This record gives sequence, C-alpha cells and structure tokens, in this order.
Amino acid sequence: MPKYTIRSMLQSDIPSVAAIERQVEFHPWSERQFQESLEAGQRCTVMVDDGVVIGFCILQPVLDEANLLLMAIDPKYQGQGRGFALLEESIEQLGERCVMIFLEVRASNRPAISLYEKVGFHQMGIRKNYYLADRALFANGKEDAVLMALTRGNPFA
Ligand SMILES: CC(C)(COP(=O)(O)OP(=O)(O)OC[C@H]1O[C@@H](n2cnc3c(N)ncnc32)[C@H](O)[C@@H]1OP(=O)(O)O)[C@@H](O)C(=O)NCCC(=O)NCCS
Repeated sequence: MPKYTIRSMLQSDIPSVAAIERQVEFHPWSERQFQESLEAGQRCTVMVDDGVVIGFCILQPVLDEANLLLMAIDPKYQGQGRGFALLEESIEQLGERCVMIFLEVRASNRPAISLYEKVGFHQMGIRKNYYLADRALFANGKEDAVLMALTRGNPFA
C-alpha cells in the first residue's frame, strides 16, 4: 500500500504548495495565484505523505476538456513514482465527461515531458519563446513551450 494520499487542495495547504513551487520553478506562481485557482473552482489536488504536502496538481476544466496548468513534486520525493500517481489520480478525478486534456511544458523539461508521455500525452506543436527563462541558459530570456494533448475514452462513441 502506498504511504501517500491524494486529496483536494485546501486553503491551508497553499503555503506548503507555494514553497514546493518556489523550489522547482524559475518563475513560480505566488500564493495568491494558488488562492485564485481554488476560488475559480479549478481541480486542485495535493499529495500528502505522513501529514506533509509533497506535491500538487492543478487542472482547469473547460466544458468537456481540461488544461493542466501546473504540477510538481517536492524535489526530495521525486523519482519514486509520485508524479505519475498524482497525475493519474488527478486526471481520474476529472470524471468521464472530460475527453481531452491540454498542457504546455518547457521544451527543456525532459522529466516532465517524459512523465506526460508515460501518462499518454502526445506532442502537438511548439509555442516559440513562450516562457520567461534564465538568461544564463537562454540568451533572449525566453524558452519555447511544447504543446501536448491527451485523448481519453472514445470521443466518437
Ligand atoms: C515532472 C515531475 C512532476 C515528475 O515527478 P516524479 O515524481 O519525479 O516522477 P515519477 O517518479 O513519477 O516518474 C514518472 C515518469 O516521469 C519521467 N521522469 C521522472 N523523472 C525523470 C528524470 N529525471 N529524467 C527523465 N524522465 C523522468 C519518467 O518517464 C518516469 O517514468 P519511469 O520511472 O518509468 O522512467 C517532477 O520532476 C517535478 O516536480 N519537476 C519540477 C516541476 C515540473 O517540472 N512540473 C511540470 C511542469 S508544470
């Protein structure tokens, strides 16, 4: 049995979630942005291990589709199957009505692209210079996004 649980994000989780986000993202979301996600009714889940929030996932349902806005696992817990479990469960919780999920991810983010492909997403295209990026790594301070999509069930059924 896994040690962790996956549940809906609460307002009281936001400081922990934002702390994880600051560790993993060059241009992190603020606590206010997480708060706005909760208030907007987005599907916000957290993974909890031994009472500690160690990951989060934010999905924005739009009619019968959804956008994966953000997800992360605390670096101390990465590489142990947690991201895969969190994403699969978060998508499951969207219900059968959701037939397509879209996302954008930094083109350099091999771990995330590989995770998304493992879950079943396919690459659809590139948005040039979509993200703010570290000028030490990207001379123009911008980085491309890879667009990906997941089709669930049979959309023609
Ligand atoms: C992307 C992220 C969520 C993956 O979480 P994780 O718990 O480490 O991933 P898992 O251990 O569940 O691995 C699942 C799959 O992801 C891929 N993956 C994970 N880490 C990887 C790495 N360092 N290199 C390449 N692929 C990797 C693999 O396909 C892996 O499957 P495998 O173990 O069968 O090879 C995590 O690295 C993270 O939080 N990164 C920072 C935030 C981020 O990039 N978020 C996504 C963009 S918003």
